[in-house]
Amino acid sequence: MSDTVLEARALAKHYPVSTGFLKPKALARALDGVSFALGAGKTLAVVGESGCGKSTLARQLTMIEPPTSGALLLDGADVTQADAHLKKRLRQQVQMVFQNPFASLNPRKKIGHALEEPLVINTSLGALERAERARAMLARVGLRPEHAARYPHMFSGGQRQRVAIARALMLAPKVVVLDEPVSALDVSIQAQVLNLLMDLQDQTQVAYVFISHNLAVVELIADEVLVMYLGKVVEQAPKQALFAAPRHPYTRALLTSTPRIDVQARQTRQVLTGELPSPLNPPSGCAFHKRCPFAVARCAVEVPRLESLGGRQLVACHRVHEIG
Ligand SMILES: Nc1ncnc2c1ncn2[C@@H]1O[C@H](COP(=O)(O)OP(=O)(O)O)[C@@H](O)[C@H]1O
Ligand SMILES: [Mg+2]
Repeated sequence: MSDTVLEARALAKHYPVSTGFLKPKALARALDGVSFALGAGKTLAVVGESGCGKSTLARQLTMIEPPTSGALLLDGADVTQADAHLKKRLRQQVQMVFQNPFASLNPRKKIGHALEEPLVINTSLGALERAERARAMLARVGLRPEHAARYPHMFSGGQRQRVAIARALMLAPKVVVLDEPVSALDVSIQAQVLNLLMDLQDQTQVAYVFISHNLAVVELIADEVLVMYLGKVVEQAPKQALFAAPRHPYTRALLTSTPRIDVQARQTRQVLTGELPSPLNPPSGCAFHKRCPFAVARCAVEVPRLESLGGRQLVACHRVHEIG
Protein backbone atom coordinates (compact mmCIF):
# COMPACT_ATOMS: atom_id res chain seq x y z
CA MET A 1 0.00 0.00 0.00
CA SER A 2 1.56 3.28 -1.10
CA ASP A 3 -0.32 5.52 1.33
CA THR A 4 0.74 3.50 4.40
CA VAL A 5 1.68 5.86 7.23
CA LEU A 6 2.27 3.40 10.04
CA GLU A 7 3.51 -0.14 9.69
CA ALA A 8 4.23 -2.68 12.40
CA ARG A 9 6.34 -5.72 11.54
CA ALA A 10 6.28 -8.54 14.07
CA LEU A 11 6.30 -6.10 16.99
CA ALA A 12 6.91 -7.81 20.31
CA LYS A 13 7.23 -6.66 23.91
CA HIS A 14 8.31 -9.12 26.57
CA TYR A 15 8.47 -7.89 30.14
CA PRO A 16 10.75 -9.54 32.68
CA VAL A 17 8.60 -10.25 35.72
CA SER A 18 9.72 -11.30 39.17
CA THR A 19 8.23 -14.64 40.21
CA GLY A 20 9.45 -14.55 43.79
CA PHE A 21 12.42 -13.86 46.00
CA LEU A 22 15.67 -15.17 44.47
CA LYS A 23 13.73 -16.87 41.68
CA PRO A 24 14.75 -16.24 38.07
CA LYS A 25 12.65 -13.68 36.23
CA ALA A 26 9.98 -14.93 33.87
CA LEU A 27 8.97 -13.23 30.64
CA ALA A 28 5.47 -11.89 30.17
CA ARG A 29 4.83 -11.95 26.44
CA ALA A 30 2.45 -9.02 26.53
CA LEU A 31 2.87 -8.41 22.81
CA ASP A 32 4.05 -11.29 20.68
CA GLY A 33 4.53 -10.52 17.01
CA VAL A 34 1.92 -8.07 15.74
CA SER A 35 1.99 -6.80 12.16
CA PHE A 36 -0.25 -4.40 10.27
CA ALA A 37 -0.17 -1.51 7.82
CA LEU A 38 -2.30 1.58 8.40
CA GLY A 39 -3.14 4.00 5.59
CA ALA A 40 -3.58 7.77 5.81
CA GLY A 41 -7.10 8.76 6.81
CA LYS A 42 -7.95 5.21 7.92
CA THR A 43 -8.91 3.72 11.27
CA LEU A 44 -7.52 0.45 12.52
CA ALA A 45 -9.45 -0.84 15.51
CA VAL A 46 -7.71 -3.13 17.99
CA VAL A 47 -10.05 -5.31 20.03
CA GLY A 48 -9.73 -8.04 22.64
CA GLU A 49 -10.40 -8.70 26.29
CA SER A 50 -8.67 -6.81 29.05
CA GLY A 51 -5.11 -8.11 29.39
CA CYS A 52 -4.63 -9.20 25.78
CA GLY A 53 -1.94 -6.59 25.09
CA LYS A 54 -3.78 -3.62 23.58
CA SER A 55 -2.21 -0.94 25.77
CA THR A 56 1.20 -2.55 25.38
CA LEU A 57 0.78 -2.24 21.62
CA ALA A 58 -0.23 1.42 22.09
CA ARG A 59 2.95 2.11 24.07
CA GLN A 60 5.09 0.64 21.30
CA LEU A 61 3.28 2.56 18.55
CA THR A 62 3.62 5.86 20.38
CA MET A 63 7.27 5.15 21.19
CA ILE A 64 6.70 5.45 24.92
CA GLU A 65 8.63 2.17 25.19
CA PRO A 66 11.04 0.45 22.82
CA PRO A 67 9.82 -2.95 21.57
CA THR A 68 11.75 -6.11 22.46
CA SER A 69 11.86 -7.01 18.77
CA GLY A 70 10.23 -6.21 15.49
CA ALA A 71 10.09 -3.01 13.48
CA LEU A 72 7.89 0.06 13.49
CA LEU A 73 7.86 2.21 10.37
CA LEU A 74 6.44 5.70 10.15
CA ASP A 75 6.17 6.94 6.57
CA GLY A 76 8.71 4.28 5.73
CA ALA A 77 11.27 5.40 8.33
CA ASP A 78 12.21 2.71 10.83
CA VAL A 79 11.52 4.15 14.27
CA THR A 80 13.36 1.38 16.07
CA GLN A 81 16.57 2.22 14.19
CA ALA A 82 16.25 6.02 14.36
CA ASP A 83 18.77 8.20 16.22
CA ALA A 84 17.59 10.49 19.01
CA HIS A 85 17.05 13.47 16.71
CA LEU A 86 14.94 11.56 14.19
CA LYS A 87 13.07 9.79 16.97
CA LYS A 88 12.02 13.12 18.45
CA ARG A 89 10.66 14.20 15.08
CA LEU A 90 8.87 10.88 14.54
CA ARG A 91 7.33 11.04 18.02
CA GLN A 92 5.55 14.26 17.11
CA GLN A 93 3.83 12.37 14.30
CA VAL A 94 2.19 9.80 16.56
CA GLN A 95 0.09 11.18 19.40
CA MET A 96 -1.92 9.41 22.08
CA VAL A 97 -5.31 9.87 23.70
CA PHE A 98 -5.96 7.94 26.90
CA GLN A 99 -9.15 6.60 28.44
CA ASN A 100 -9.02 9.04 31.31
CA PRO A 101 -8.03 12.48 30.03
CA PHE A 102 -8.15 13.95 33.53
CA ALA A 103 -5.07 11.95 34.44
CA SER A 104 -3.10 13.53 31.61
CA LEU A 105 -4.23 17.10 32.31
CA ASN A 106 -2.54 19.10 35.04
CA PRO A 107 -5.39 20.26 37.33
CA ARG A 108 -3.59 23.53 38.16
CA LYS A 109 -2.95 24.55 34.55
CA LYS A 110 -5.48 26.21 32.30
CA ILE A 111 -6.67 24.25 29.29
CA GLY A 112 -5.04 26.74 26.94
CA HIS A 113 -1.74 25.99 28.60
CA ALA A 114 -2.19 22.24 28.07
CA LEU A 115 -2.89 22.81 24.39
CA GLU A 116 0.08 25.14 23.94
CA GLU A 117 2.53 22.82 25.67
CA PRO A 118 3.31 20.66 22.59
CA LEU A 119 3.97 23.88 20.65
CA VAL A 120 6.29 25.21 23.36
CA ILE A 121 8.32 22.01 23.31
CA ASN A 122 8.40 21.35 19.59
CA THR A 123 8.08 24.65 17.76
CA SER A 124 9.55 28.14 17.87
CA LEU A 125 6.15 29.85 17.70
CA GLY A 126 5.69 32.98 19.81
CA ALA A 127 3.19 33.26 22.66
CA LEU A 128 0.53 35.09 20.68
CA GLU A 129 0.63 32.62 17.82
CA ARG A 130 0.50 29.67 20.23
CA ALA A 131 -2.50 31.07 22.06
CA GLU A 132 -4.24 31.71 18.78
CA ARG A 133 -3.67 28.12 17.62
CA ALA A 134 -4.93 26.74 20.92
CA ARG A 135 -8.13 28.79 20.66
CA ALA A 136 -8.64 27.74 17.04
CA MET A 137 -8.19 24.08 17.98
CA LEU A 138 -10.75 24.37 20.77
CA ALA A 139 -13.28 25.56 18.21
CA ARG A 140 -12.42 22.65 15.92
CA VAL A 141 -13.22 20.10 18.62
CA GLY A 142 -16.57 21.70 19.41
CA LEU A 143 -15.52 23.78 22.42
CA ARG A 144 -15.33 27.57 22.63
CA PRO A 145 -12.12 29.61 22.24
CA GLU A 146 -12.69 31.24 25.63
CA HIS A 147 -12.54 27.79 27.26
CA ALA A 148 -8.76 28.18 27.02
CA ALA A 149 -8.89 30.18 30.25
CA ARG A 150 -10.65 27.41 32.21
CA TYR A 151 -9.24 24.65 34.39
CA PRO A 152 -9.78 20.90 33.73
CA HIS A 153 -12.23 20.44 36.63
CA MET A 154 -14.59 22.93 35.01
CA PHE A 155 -15.25 20.52 32.13
CA SER A 156 -17.46 17.45 31.84
CA GLY A 157 -15.98 14.07 30.95
CA GLY A 158 -16.91 14.43 27.30
CA GLN A 159 -15.49 17.95 27.13
CA ARG A 160 -12.26 16.80 28.74
CA GLN A 161 -11.91 14.09 26.13
CA ARG A 162 -12.42 16.79 23.47
CA VAL A 163 -9.57 18.72 25.09
CA ALA A 164 -7.37 15.60 25.02
CA ILE A 165 -8.15 15.12 21.32
CA ALA A 166 -7.39 18.78 20.66
CA ARG A 167 -4.07 18.45 22.45
CA ALA A 168 -3.18 15.36 20.44
CA LEU A 169 -3.86 17.24 17.21
CA MET A 170 -1.86 20.41 18.02
CA LEU A 171 1.21 19.22 16.10
CA ALA A 172 -0.84 17.91 13.16
CA PRO A 173 0.28 14.30 13.66
CA LYS A 174 -0.07 11.62 11.00
CA VAL A 175 -1.38 9.08 13.51
CA VAL A 176 -3.34 9.27 16.75
CA VAL A 177 -3.48 6.19 18.98
CA LEU A 178 -6.64 6.24 21.10
CA ASP A 179 -6.70 3.77 24.00
CA GLU A 180 -10.33 3.18 25.04
CA PRO A 181 -11.09 6.87 24.39
CA VAL A 182 -14.83 6.69 25.02
CA SER A 183 -15.05 3.79 27.47
CA ALA A 184 -15.40 6.04 30.51
CA LEU A 185 -18.12 8.22 28.94
CA ASP A 186 -21.92 7.96 29.00
CA VAL A 187 -23.30 6.25 25.91
CA SER A 188 -24.91 9.43 24.56
CA ILE A 189 -21.63 11.31 24.93
CA GLN A 190 -19.70 8.44 23.35
CA ALA A 191 -21.52 8.92 20.05
CA GLN A 192 -20.71 12.66 20.03
CA VAL A 193 -17.02 12.07 20.61
CA LEU A 194 -16.92 9.33 17.95
CA ASN A 195 -18.60 11.66 15.47
CA LEU A 196 -16.07 14.34 16.28
CA LEU A 197 -13.21 11.91 15.68
CA MET A 198 -14.65 10.91 12.32
CA ASP A 199 -15.15 14.57 11.28
CA LEU A 200 -11.59 15.46 12.24
CA GLN A 201 -10.31 12.49 10.25
CA ASP A 202 -12.25 13.61 7.17
CA GLN A 203 -10.74 17.09 7.49
CA THR A 204 -7.13 16.14 8.19
CA GLN A 205 -6.61 12.57 6.88
CA VAL A 206 -5.13 11.65 10.25
CA ALA A 207 -4.96 7.88 10.77
CA TYR A 208 -6.32 6.33 13.98
CA VAL A 209 -5.36 3.25 15.91
CA PHE A 210 -8.53 2.89 17.92
CA ILE A 211 -8.29 0.53 20.88
CA SER A 212 -11.54 -0.70 22.38
CA HIS A 213 -13.08 -3.72 24.02
CA ASN A 214 -16.49 -2.51 22.81
CA LEU A 215 -17.33 -3.94 19.40
CA ALA A 216 -20.41 -1.77 18.99
CA VAL A 217 -18.14 1.28 19.03
CA VAL A 218 -15.65 -0.41 16.72
CA GLU A 219 -18.37 -1.20 14.19
CA LEU A 220 -19.09 2.51 13.97
CA ILE A 221 -15.60 3.87 13.56
CA ALA A 222 -13.25 1.21 12.12
CA ASP A 223 -12.11 0.56 8.57
CA GLU A 224 -10.06 -2.46 9.52
CA VAL A 225 -10.14 -4.57 12.69
CA LEU A 226 -7.35 -6.41 14.47
CA VAL A 227 -8.51 -9.00 17.02
CA MET A 228 -5.89 -9.75 19.65
CA TYR A 229 -5.61 -12.68 22.00
CA LEU A 230 -2.78 -12.98 24.51
CA GLY A 231 -0.42 -10.71 22.60
CA LYS A 232 -1.10 -12.14 19.16
CA VAL A 233 -3.38 -11.26 16.29
CA VAL A 234 -5.94 -14.04 15.81
CA GLU A 235 -8.00 -12.33 13.13
CA GLN A 236 -7.59 -9.28 10.95
CA ALA A 237 -10.17 -8.10 8.43
CA PRO A 238 -11.94 -5.13 6.89
CA LYS A 239 -14.76 -4.14 9.22
CA GLN A 240 -17.59 -5.31 6.96
CA ALA A 241 -16.09 -8.78 6.56
CA LEU A 242 -15.35 -9.13 10.25
CA PHE A 243 -18.83 -8.22 11.40
CA ALA A 244 -20.64 -10.09 8.61
CA ALA A 245 -18.57 -13.26 8.80
CA PRO A 246 -16.22 -13.50 11.78
CA ARG A 247 -14.07 -16.59 11.29
CA HIS A 248 -11.96 -17.06 14.41
CA PRO A 249 -13.84 -18.72 17.30
CA TYR A 250 -12.55 -15.96 19.59
CA THR A 251 -13.90 -13.21 17.32
CA ARG A 252 -17.24 -15.00 17.20
CA ALA A 253 -17.35 -15.19 20.97
CA LEU A 254 -16.52 -11.49 21.29
CA LEU A 255 -19.26 -10.59 18.84
CA THR A 256 -21.76 -12.77 20.67
CA SER A 257 -21.12 -10.92 23.90
CA THR A 258 -21.77 -7.58 22.20
CA PRO A 259 -25.34 -6.29 22.39
CA ARG A 260 -25.66 -5.78 18.64
CA ILE A 261 -26.37 -9.42 17.86
CA ASP A 262 -28.07 -9.76 14.50
CA VAL A 263 -29.89 -12.86 13.25
CA GLN A 264 -26.84 -14.46 11.68
CA ALA A 265 -24.69 -13.90 14.74
CA ARG A 266 -27.37 -15.50 16.88
CA GLN A 267 -27.30 -18.66 14.79
CA THR A 268 -23.62 -19.17 15.51
CA ARG A 269 -24.01 -18.08 19.10
CA GLN A 270 -21.04 -18.98 21.19
CA VAL A 271 -20.34 -17.86 24.70
CA LEU A 272 -16.90 -16.98 25.98
CA THR A 273 -16.14 -19.07 29.04
CA GLY A 274 -13.13 -19.21 31.31
CA GLU A 275 -10.56 -16.49 31.80
CA LEU A 276 -7.76 -15.07 29.74
CA PRO A 277 -4.62 -17.08 30.60
CA SER A 278 -1.52 -15.30 31.88
CA PRO A 279 1.05 -14.16 29.31
CA LEU A 280 3.65 -15.51 31.75
CA ASN A 281 2.45 -19.03 31.15
CA PRO A 282 0.46 -19.17 27.92
CA PRO A 283 -1.18 -22.45 26.87
CA SER A 284 0.74 -24.54 24.35
CA GLY A 285 -0.24 -24.54 20.69
CA CYS A 286 -3.10 -22.15 20.02
CA ALA A 287 -3.35 -19.91 23.08
CA PHE A 288 -7.15 -19.98 22.77
CA HIS A 289 -7.54 -23.76 22.63
CA LYS A 290 -8.59 -24.27 26.26
CA ARG A 291 -11.57 -21.94 25.80
CA CYS A 292 -12.40 -22.97 22.25
CA PRO A 293 -15.44 -25.20 21.56
CA PHE A 294 -13.88 -26.34 18.28
CA ALA A 295 -10.46 -27.32 19.61
CA VAL A 296 -8.94 -30.67 18.60
CA ALA A 297 -5.70 -32.37 19.65
CA ARG A 298 -3.63 -30.46 17.10
CA CYS A 299 -4.69 -27.12 18.61
CA ALA A 300 -2.92 -27.95 21.89
CA VAL A 301 0.34 -28.69 20.09
CA GLU A 302 0.80 -26.49 17.04
CA VAL A 303 0.72 -22.69 17.02
CA PRO A 304 -1.61 -21.62 14.19
CA ARG A 305 -0.22 -19.12 11.69
CA LEU A 306 -2.11 -16.02 10.64
CA GLU A 307 -3.18 -16.88 7.11
CA SER A 308 -5.27 -15.25 4.41
CA LEU A 309 -8.62 -16.75 3.53
CA GLY A 310 -8.13 -15.52 0.01
CA GLY A 311 -9.04 -11.86 0.37
CA ARG A 312 -7.98 -9.39 3.04
CA GLN A 313 -9.31 -11.48 5.91
CA LEU A 314 -6.56 -13.17 7.91
CA VAL A 315 -7.24 -15.84 10.53
CA ALA A 316 -5.01 -17.86 12.85
CA CYS A 317 -7.02 -21.05 13.41
CA HIS A 318 -6.32 -24.67 12.46
CA ARG A 319 -10.02 -25.36 12.14
CA VAL A 320 -11.13 -22.31 10.20
CA HIS A 321 -12.21 -24.36 7.17
CA GLU A 322 -14.01 -27.07 9.13
CA ILE A 323 -16.08 -24.76 11.29
CA GLY A 324 -17.30 -22.73 8.27
N1 LIG B 1 5.28 -3.23 32.54
C1 LIG B 1 4.78 -4.48 32.57
N2 LIG B 1 5.42 -5.46 33.23
C2 LIG B 1 4.93 -6.72 33.26
N3 LIG B 1 3.80 -7.11 32.67
C3 LIG B 1 3.09 -6.19 32.01
C4 LIG B 1 3.54 -4.82 31.92
N4 LIG B 1 2.63 -4.13 31.18
C5 LIG B 1 1.68 -5.02 30.84
N5 LIG B 1 1.95 -6.25 31.33
C6 LIG B 1 1.14 -7.46 31.16
O1 LIG B 1 0.91 -7.62 29.78
C7 LIG B 1 -0.42 -8.09 29.54
C8 LIG B 1 -1.12 -7.15 28.60
O2 LIG B 1 -1.42 -5.94 29.28
P1 LIG B 1 -2.10 -4.70 28.56
O3 LIG B 1 -1.30 -4.35 27.35
O4 LIG B 1 -2.31 -3.64 29.55
O5 LIG B 1 -3.50 -5.32 28.07
P2 LIG B 1 -4.87 -4.59 27.68
O6 LIG B 1 -4.58 -3.14 27.41
O7 LIG B 1 -5.36 -5.32 26.47
O8 LIG B 1 -5.81 -4.77 28.82
C9 LIG B 1 -1.07 -8.22 30.90
O9 LIG B 1 -0.98 -9.56 31.32
C10 LIG B 1 -0.25 -7.32 31.77
O10 LIG B 1 -0.23 -7.79 33.10
MG1 LIG C 1 -5.47 -1.45 28.21
